[in-house]
Amino acid sequence: MRDSSCDRIGIFDSGVGGLTVLKQLHRRLPHESILYFADTARLPYGTRSQSEILQFVREILSWMESERVKMVIMACNTSSALALEAVQTEFTFPILGLILPGARAAVTAGKRIGVVATPATAVSGAYRRAILEIDDLAQVWEVGCPEFVPLIEANRLWEPYTRTIAQQYLSSLLAQNIDTLIYGCTHYRHLSPLFTQLLPPAIHLIDPAEPVVSAAEQELELMGLANPIASSSIRFCTSGSPDEFAHKAQQWLGYRPTVEAIDLACLSTIHG
Ligand code: DGL
Repeated sequence: MRDSSCDRIGIFDSGVGGLTVLKQLHRRLPHESILYFADTARLPYGTRSQSEILQFVREILSWMESERVKMVIMACNTSSALALEAVQTEFTFPILGLILPGARAAVTAGKRIGVVATPATAVSGAYRRAILEIDDLAQVWEVGCPEFVPLIEANRLWEPYTRTIAQQYLSSLLAQNIDTLIYGCTHYRHLSPLFTQLLPPAIHLIDPAEPVVSAAEQELELMGLANPIASSSIRFCTSGSPDEFAHKAQQWLGYRPTVEAIDLACLSTIHG
């Protein structure tokens, strides 16, 4: 049997949000090589229907399969909420999502849990279900934040407008006296300095990126898939403009990555 331990771990998101997961993974498992895909041609995901998300996720996973990844982390809550369950049995490699690891981390932190997420994730109720399955005494409030992803992708993090919008989104959660807040969209972690300013310090901030990377580490060990060789590399691909993505990613990575353009629609016709 082919030894796949040196193969890459696939990570995908609609844009720069998944870089928050990539950074965690690279910090925690520096031996692992990574294939990062940003579906910027179809961003944002958070206002799309479930059937669109399912189609996009299947296309990305089929392409990653053809690139021989050994595992995929959906670094996108919207995909995790709307598509993970359906696709997990369709592929032979393990696929990890953010909802369960995020829910588990949240219930250990508090009982009154707020979730900021894309409209699609919030409406799906995925975090509420996952949290209540673990702790039926917890209370959950999910708020859809449609303006955040476009603002973050446009790098308008420090504008007064973004602050006002954030105050609006957080106000209903603060009115519920939450003790814990989940970043229910990987993009939002890029706003953490603003969140820290706007929220009382007693509120626990949960970034599901951390527990999903722990889950990935355990799964790799369990399946004998951990890379034994210290020779990692990160390959960046996008469905949109490589230049634009390289420019945006630079701010979060600290270096300008080389980015390849991938046409998933064209690949899916080639692969049938
Ligand atoms: N970063 C993704 C998420 O965690 C998707 C955001 C979007 O494209 O709307 O949900």
